[in-house]
Amino acid sequence: MGLKIETLSLKNWRNIEDKLIHFNKNLTVLLGSNASGKTNTLEAIQLLSSGATFSHTHTNHLLQKGKREGKIEATYTGDKRKITLACLLTEEGKSVKKQFFKNGKKKAQNHPQGTLPTILFTPDHLSLIKDSAHVRRDELNHFCSQVSPQYHEVLKTYNRALEQRNKLLKDPTLEKTMLSVWDEALSLGGATLFQARAQIIAHLMPYIEKAYHAFSPAEKLSILYKPALPNIGIFSEKTNKKEIRELFLAALQNSFPEDLRNGFTTFGPQKDDVVFMLNDKEARAFASQGQQRSLVLAWKLALVQYTEDFFQQIPLLLLDDVMSELDEERREAMTTFLRKDIQTVITTTHLGYFSEKTLEEADIISYP
Ligand SMILES: Nc1ncnc2c1ncn2[C@@H]1O[C@H](COP(=O)(O)OP(=O)(O)OP(=O)(O)O)[C@@H](O)[C@H]1O
Ligand SMILES: [Mg+2]
Repeated sequence: MGLKIETLSLKNWRNIEDKLIHFNKNLTVLLGSNASGKTNTLEAIQLLSSGATFSHTHTNHLLQKGKREGKIEATYTGDKRKITLACLLTEEGKSVKKQFFKNGKKKAQNHPQGTLPTILFTPDHLSLIKDSAHVRRDELNHFCSQVSPQYHEVLKTYNRALEQRNKLLKDPTLEKTMLSVWDEALSLGGATLFQARAQIIAHLMPYIEKAYHAFSPAEKLSILYKPALPNIGIFSEKTNKKEIRELFLAALQNSFPEDLRNGFTTFGPQKDDVVFMLNDKEARAFASQGQQRSLVLAWKLALVQYTEDFFQQIPLLLLDDVMSELDEERREAMTTFLRKDIQTVITTTHLGYFSEKTLEEADIISYP
């Protein structure tokens, strides 16, 4: 079911001058000391597989310092197919150009629709619990865009329309009627986004409860989707799109005076939030470090399961430095999740975090 990554070649990619990795087994452990390039390797895998990178660094930083050209290339097999994806980095004056290739043919730059959905955990994701809502929206958008090209298209169109509407709102002499075409456009795309997010959160619920239970059986985790709409009493994942659209259109029209005062659009999916609840209390305010880590892991593992069940595609799981801060019990729970049928790449500075049995079944790639 689906593709697997078979090889990865890195040339002048960040701190890695030349490295070729074969993924022969389902579990690959990237082992090395700090700053040896393990996270950089995951970044390359994610960029090629999912078409987007998790680090928000400038393209210039992807090419090794002092080099004029670099390349990352991966091969994938499965479903009787073999695919090669590559990203070429070339210095151009003061900046670095990124070009993508699929089976040797050039692809549209920064194409977000990937070949193989990837679910990535990095310690940076701990911010999912405590940071502001935009981190959670980015996470949802990134995931939904990977599994649904339609979501990605709607999101792009919505954001363009929102930008236009916000630009107009900066003009204090603006009349309400001048916004009607943008209100229509926003309500149309917005209804799709609101509905998709509500449905995805509803579908994820049982998975995330189960995953968290494995980490911490005595605690109850739930997630709440909070659409940025007024009077959301009637809103649920079952509300039909036409109703959501009307609700959102009315909200846009009613908030015109406020929007004009603020100079931006008050309601809409660009202001949504997802709330993590632990034992019916907001995790944002109460969760300890260890609990935050387990919450984020449960979320990620739920995404894996959901992708598998709903899209018949086993994603690639990338786990960066996942073990170091888990206690023994949670580490055990994590190990049982490293299932044989989910291809997983995990980084570590220390093999002692893994059981002998796990290591027997893994490929270990050393970093100098
Ligand atoms: N463009 C670049 N050129 C050269 N070096 C770079 C470039 N970009 C990043 N680096 C360096 O790569 C090094 C390795 O980074 P990376 O995050 O992959 O290490 P790591 O093995 O994951 O370490 P840790 O165990 O501490 O997480 C960092 O020291 C960083 O400064
Ligand atoms: Mg790292």
